Amino acid sequence: MEAVSGGGGVTEYLERNRVYWDAEAARYAETAEESWAGEPSWGIWRVPETDLGLLPDDMSGMDTVELGCGTAYVSAWLARRGARPVGIDNSPAQLATARRMQSAFGLEFPLHLGNAESTPFADASFDLAISEYGAAIWCDPYRWIPEAARILRPGGQLVFLGNSTLMMLAVPELEHECATAQLLRRQRGMHRFEWPDTPGVEFHVSPGEWIRLLRRSGFDVEDLIEVYPPEGAKTRYPFVDLAWARRWPCEEVWKARKPDGAR
Ligand SMILES: C[S@@+](CC[C@H](N)C(=O)[O-])C[C@H]1O[C@@H](n2cnc3c(N)ncnc32)[C@H](O)[C@@H]1O
Repeated sequence: MEAVSGGGGVTEYLERNRVYWDAEAARYAETAEESWAGEPSWGIWRVPETDLGLLPDDMSGMDTVELGCGTAYVSAWLARRGARPVGIDNSPAQLATARRMQSAFGLEFPLHLGNAESTPFADASFDLAISEYGAAIWCDPYRWIPEAARILRPGGQLVFLGNSTLMMLAVPELEHECATAQLLRRQRGMHRFEWPDTPGVEFHVSPGEWIRLLRRSGFDVEDLIEVYPPEGAKTRYPFVDLAWARRWPCEEVWKARKPDGAR
Protein backbone atom coordinates (compact mmCIF):
# COMPACT_ATOMS: atom_id res chain seq x y z
CA MET A 1 0.00 0.00 0.00
CA GLU A 2 1.19 3.51 -0.77
CA ALA A 3 0.40 6.54 1.33
CA VAL A 4 -1.32 8.83 -1.12
CA SER A 5 -2.19 12.49 -0.89
CA GLY A 6 -5.60 13.78 -1.88
CA GLY A 7 -8.23 11.47 -3.36
CA GLY A 8 -11.96 11.85 -2.72
CA GLY A 9 -13.75 14.72 -1.00
CA VAL A 10 -14.64 15.26 2.66
CA THR A 11 -18.08 13.70 2.29
CA GLU A 12 -16.63 10.60 0.64
CA TYR A 13 -14.34 9.60 3.53
CA LEU A 14 -16.76 10.90 6.20
CA GLU A 15 -19.43 8.54 4.86
CA ARG A 16 -17.00 5.63 4.48
CA ASN A 17 -15.75 6.09 8.04
CA ARG A 18 -19.29 6.34 9.39
CA VAL A 19 -20.22 3.02 7.75
CA TYR A 20 -17.00 1.47 9.07
CA TRP A 21 -17.48 2.73 12.65
CA ASP A 22 -21.17 1.88 12.78
CA ALA A 23 -20.15 -1.69 11.89
CA GLU A 24 -17.27 -1.74 14.41
CA ALA A 25 -19.39 -0.32 17.24
CA ALA A 26 -20.52 -3.71 18.58
CA ARG A 27 -16.89 -4.77 19.04
CA TYR A 28 -16.06 -1.51 20.84
CA ALA A 29 -19.16 -1.83 23.03
CA GLU A 30 -17.62 -5.02 24.51
CA THR A 31 -14.81 -3.03 26.18
CA ALA A 32 -16.68 0.23 26.81
CA GLU A 33 -17.76 -0.63 30.34
CA GLU A 34 -14.27 -1.65 31.43
CA SER A 35 -12.80 1.54 29.93
CA TRP A 36 -15.45 3.73 31.58
CA ALA A 37 -14.91 2.05 34.95
CA GLY A 38 -11.11 2.06 34.92
CA GLU A 39 -8.41 4.58 35.74
CA PRO A 40 -7.12 6.51 32.71
CA SER A 41 -4.82 4.37 30.53
CA TRP A 42 -3.94 5.06 26.94
CA GLY A 43 -3.70 3.52 23.52
CA ILE A 44 -3.65 -0.07 22.38
CA TRP A 45 -1.45 -1.18 25.34
CA ARG A 46 -3.46 0.77 27.95
CA VAL A 47 -0.35 2.55 29.25
CA PRO A 48 -1.32 4.05 32.63
CA GLU A 49 -1.82 7.80 32.89
CA THR A 50 0.63 7.70 35.80
CA ASP A 51 3.36 6.73 33.26
CA LEU A 52 2.35 9.13 30.47
CA GLY A 53 1.04 12.24 32.26
CA LEU A 54 -1.35 13.45 29.57
CA LEU A 55 -3.90 15.01 31.95
CA PRO A 56 -3.78 17.66 34.67
CA ASP A 57 -4.70 16.07 38.05
CA ASP A 58 -7.27 18.73 38.81
CA MET A 59 -9.44 19.69 35.87
CA SER A 60 -12.03 21.56 37.94
CA GLY A 61 -14.07 23.92 35.82
CA MET A 62 -12.25 23.10 32.58
CA ASP A 63 -14.35 22.93 29.42
CA THR A 64 -13.12 20.01 27.34
CA VAL A 65 -13.99 18.55 23.96
CA GLU A 66 -13.20 15.02 22.81
CA LEU A 67 -12.89 14.96 19.03
CA GLY A 68 -14.00 11.56 17.74
CA CYS A 69 -15.07 10.39 21.20
CA GLY A 70 -16.37 6.92 20.26
CA THR A 71 -17.74 5.38 23.45
CA ALA A 72 -16.54 8.53 25.32
CA TYR A 73 -14.60 6.86 28.12
CA VAL A 74 -11.88 9.53 27.88
CA SER A 75 -14.52 12.21 28.54
CA ALA A 76 -15.77 10.16 31.51
CA TRP A 77 -12.23 10.23 32.98
CA LEU A 78 -12.11 14.01 32.45
CA ALA A 79 -15.51 14.47 34.14
CA ARG A 80 -14.24 12.56 37.20
CA ARG A 81 -11.31 15.01 37.39
CA GLY A 82 -13.73 17.92 37.55
CA ALA A 83 -13.97 18.89 33.86
CA ARG A 84 -17.14 19.74 31.92
CA PRO A 85 -16.69 17.46 28.90
CA VAL A 86 -18.39 17.51 25.50
CA GLY A 87 -17.95 14.72 22.96
CA ILE A 88 -18.41 14.70 19.21
CA ASP A 89 -18.41 11.65 16.95
CA ASN A 90 -19.35 10.76 13.39
CA SER A 91 -20.93 7.37 14.24
CA PRO A 92 -24.49 7.09 15.62
CA ALA A 93 -23.77 3.53 16.77
CA GLN A 94 -20.68 4.54 18.76
CA LEU A 95 -22.65 7.39 20.35
CA ALA A 96 -25.45 4.96 21.25
CA THR A 97 -22.90 2.98 23.31
CA ALA A 98 -21.62 6.21 24.87
CA ARG A 99 -25.17 7.12 25.90
CA ARG A 100 -25.74 3.65 27.37
CA MET A 101 -22.54 4.06 29.39
CA GLN A 102 -23.68 7.49 30.61
CA SER A 103 -26.87 5.93 32.01
CA ALA A 104 -25.02 2.94 33.46
CA PHE A 105 -22.45 5.14 35.25
CA GLY A 106 -24.80 8.04 36.07
CA LEU A 107 -22.44 10.49 34.37
CA GLU A 108 -24.12 12.73 31.80
CA PHE A 109 -22.44 15.19 29.44
CA PRO A 110 -23.33 16.47 25.95
CA LEU A 111 -22.63 14.18 23.00
CA HIS A 112 -22.92 15.49 19.44
CA LEU A 113 -23.25 13.57 16.21
CA GLY A 114 -20.99 15.40 13.76
CA ASN A 115 -17.69 15.86 12.00
CA ALA A 116 -14.72 16.86 14.16
CA GLU A 117 -13.27 18.69 11.15
CA SER A 118 -16.17 21.14 11.18
CA THR A 119 -17.86 21.29 14.59
CA PRO A 120 -20.96 23.21 15.71
CA PHE A 121 -19.05 24.83 18.60
CA ALA A 122 -18.41 28.58 18.93
CA ASP A 123 -14.92 30.05 18.67
CA ALA A 124 -12.87 29.83 21.89
CA SER A 125 -15.23 27.44 23.70
CA PHE A 126 -12.79 24.97 25.32
CA ASP A 127 -9.71 24.76 27.55
CA LEU A 128 -8.68 21.30 26.32
CA ALA A 129 -9.28 19.42 23.06
CA ILE A 130 -8.35 15.76 23.22
CA SER A 131 -8.41 12.77 20.92
CA GLU A 132 -7.30 9.20 21.45
CA TYR A 133 -7.44 7.52 18.03
CA GLY A 134 -10.45 9.69 17.09
CA ALA A 135 -9.88 12.80 14.98
CA ALA A 136 -6.20 12.01 15.64
CA ILE A 137 -6.23 9.39 12.88
CA TRP A 138 -9.70 9.45 11.25
CA CYS A 139 -9.86 13.13 10.29
CA ASP A 140 -7.75 15.01 7.79
CA PRO A 141 -5.15 16.94 9.83
CA TYR A 142 -5.32 19.85 7.39
CA ARG A 143 -8.99 20.24 8.41
CA TRP A 144 -9.23 19.16 12.04
CA ILE A 145 -6.12 20.89 13.45
CA PRO A 146 -7.28 24.39 12.34
CA GLU A 147 -10.76 23.53 13.67
CA ALA A 148 -9.28 22.54 17.06
CA ALA A 149 -7.38 25.85 17.10
CA ARG A 150 -10.62 27.73 16.39
CA ILE A 151 -12.65 26.17 19.23
CA LEU A 152 -9.86 26.36 21.86
CA ARG A 153 -9.49 29.39 24.10
CA PRO A 154 -6.19 31.27 24.26
CA GLY A 155 -4.00 29.20 26.62
CA GLY A 156 -6.01 26.07 25.75
CA GLN A 157 -4.26 22.76 25.11
CA LEU A 158 -4.54 20.17 22.35
CA VAL A 159 -3.55 16.57 23.20
CA PHE A 160 -3.86 13.72 20.72
CA LEU A 161 -2.67 10.12 20.55
CA GLY A 162 -2.44 7.89 17.49
CA ASN A 163 -0.17 5.51 15.61
CA SER A 164 3.48 6.58 15.33
CA THR A 165 5.05 7.39 11.98
CA LEU A 166 7.30 4.31 12.25
CA MET A 167 4.28 2.10 12.83
CA MET A 168 2.57 3.47 9.74
CA LEU A 169 5.63 2.68 7.65
CA ALA A 170 6.13 -0.83 9.07
CA VAL A 171 2.58 -2.12 9.46
CA PRO A 172 1.57 -4.69 6.82
CA GLU A 173 -1.46 -4.20 4.62
CA LEU A 174 -3.73 -6.80 6.19
CA GLU A 175 -5.02 -6.12 9.70
CA HIS A 176 -4.14 -9.55 11.09
CA GLU A 177 -0.48 -9.28 9.95
CA CYS A 178 2.10 -8.11 12.48
CA ALA A 179 4.65 -5.32 11.95
CA THR A 180 8.20 -6.45 11.21
CA ALA A 181 11.54 -4.60 11.17
CA GLN A 182 11.04 -3.71 7.51
CA LEU A 183 9.88 -0.35 6.21
CA LEU A 184 7.11 -1.12 3.73
CA ARG A 185 6.23 2.28 2.32
CA ARG A 186 7.59 5.75 1.97
CA GLN A 187 7.36 8.49 4.58
CA ARG A 188 7.68 11.26 2.04
CA GLY A 189 4.23 12.72 1.30
CA MET A 190 2.41 10.39 3.73
CA HIS A 191 -1.14 11.61 4.38
CA ARG A 192 -4.13 9.47 3.43
CA PHE A 193 -4.11 5.72 4.11
CA GLU A 194 -6.49 3.07 2.82
CA TRP A 195 -6.23 -0.68 3.42
CA PRO A 196 -7.36 -3.59 1.27
CA ASP A 197 -9.43 -5.32 3.98
CA THR A 198 -11.37 -2.40 5.51
CA PRO A 199 -13.44 0.45 4.04
CA GLY A 200 -12.06 3.03 6.53
CA VAL A 201 -9.86 5.96 5.50
CA GLU A 202 -7.11 7.10 7.90
CA PHE A 203 -4.80 10.09 7.93
CA HIS A 204 -1.22 10.18 9.19
CA VAL A 205 1.41 12.78 8.45
CA SER A 206 5.11 12.82 9.31
CA PRO A 207 6.54 14.60 12.39
CA GLY A 208 7.93 17.53 10.40
CA GLU A 209 4.55 18.04 8.75
CA TRP A 210 2.73 17.87 12.14
CA ILE A 211 5.03 20.58 13.49
CA ARG A 212 4.54 22.85 10.48
CA LEU A 213 0.76 22.34 10.48
CA LEU A 214 0.41 22.92 14.24
CA ARG A 215 2.50 26.09 14.08
CA ARG A 216 0.68 27.35 10.98
CA SER A 217 -2.62 26.80 12.85
CA GLY A 218 -1.43 29.00 15.73
CA PHE A 219 -0.20 26.34 18.18
CA ASP A 220 3.04 26.17 20.13
CA VAL A 221 4.28 22.57 20.08
CA GLU A 222 4.89 21.41 23.65
CA ASP A 223 5.81 17.76 23.35
CA LEU A 224 5.95 14.66 21.19
CA ILE A 225 5.76 11.65 23.50
CA GLU A 226 6.82 8.32 22.05
CA VAL A 227 4.73 5.68 23.79
CA TYR A 228 6.33 2.41 24.92
CA PRO A 229 4.24 -0.25 26.69
CA PRO A 230 5.44 -1.58 30.05
CA GLU A 231 6.81 -5.12 30.32
CA GLY A 232 4.04 -7.71 30.19
CA ALA A 233 1.53 -5.31 28.59
CA LYS A 234 -1.16 -6.89 26.43
CA THR A 235 -3.15 -5.68 23.45
CA ARG A 236 -6.17 -7.06 21.61
CA TYR A 237 -4.87 -5.64 18.31
CA PRO A 238 -2.96 -8.04 16.04
CA PHE A 239 -0.90 -5.57 13.98
CA VAL A 240 2.00 -5.17 16.44
CA ASP A 241 3.53 -7.34 19.15
CA LEU A 242 5.11 -6.42 22.46
CA ALA A 243 8.71 -7.06 21.32
CA TRP A 244 8.26 -4.56 18.47
CA ALA A 245 6.52 -1.97 20.61
CA ARG A 246 9.16 -2.20 23.36
CA ARG A 247 11.85 -1.53 20.72
CA TRP A 248 10.19 1.16 18.63
CA PRO A 249 7.28 3.42 19.56
CA CYS A 250 4.09 2.20 17.88
CA GLU A 251 2.12 5.18 19.21
CA GLU A 252 2.78 8.86 19.76
CA VAL A 253 1.17 11.73 21.65
CA TRP A 254 1.33 15.33 20.51
CA LYS A 255 0.80 18.17 22.98
CA ALA A 256 0.33 21.70 21.66
CA ARG A 257 -1.00 24.92 23.14
CA LYS A 258 -2.76 27.96 21.76
CA PRO A 259 -0.70 30.79 23.26
CA ASP A 260 -2.21 33.14 25.83
CA GLY A 261 -3.28 36.27 24.05
CA ALA A 262 -3.90 34.40 20.76
CA ARG A 263 -7.13 35.29 18.99
C1 LIG B 1 -11.07 4.26 17.83
S1 LIG B 1 -12.48 5.29 18.08
C2 LIG B 1 -11.83 6.52 19.18
C3 LIG B 1 -12.56 6.53 20.47
C4 LIG B 1 -11.92 5.87 21.63
N1 LIG B 1 -10.88 6.65 22.22
C5 LIG B 1 -11.39 4.50 21.29
O1 LIG B 1 -10.15 4.34 21.13
O2 LIG B 1 -12.21 3.58 21.19
C6 LIG B 1 -12.54 6.26 16.60
C7 LIG B 1 -13.77 7.14 16.54
O3 LIG B 1 -13.55 8.22 15.63
C8 LIG B 1 -14.79 8.52 15.08
N2 LIG B 1 -14.65 9.35 13.88
C9 LIG B 1 -14.17 8.99 12.67
N3 LIG B 1 -14.21 10.04 11.82
C10 LIG B 1 -14.74 11.09 12.52
C11 LIG B 1 -15.03 12.45 12.21
N4 LIG B 1 -14.79 12.95 10.99
N5 LIG B 1 -15.57 13.23 13.17
C12 LIG B 1 -15.84 12.74 14.41
N6 LIG B 1 -15.57 11.46 14.76
C13 LIG B 1 -15.02 10.65 13.84
C14 LIG B 1 -15.41 7.17 14.80
O4 LIG B 1 -16.79 7.24 14.57
C15 LIG B 1 -14.99 6.40 16.04
O5 LIG B 1 -16.00 6.40 17.01
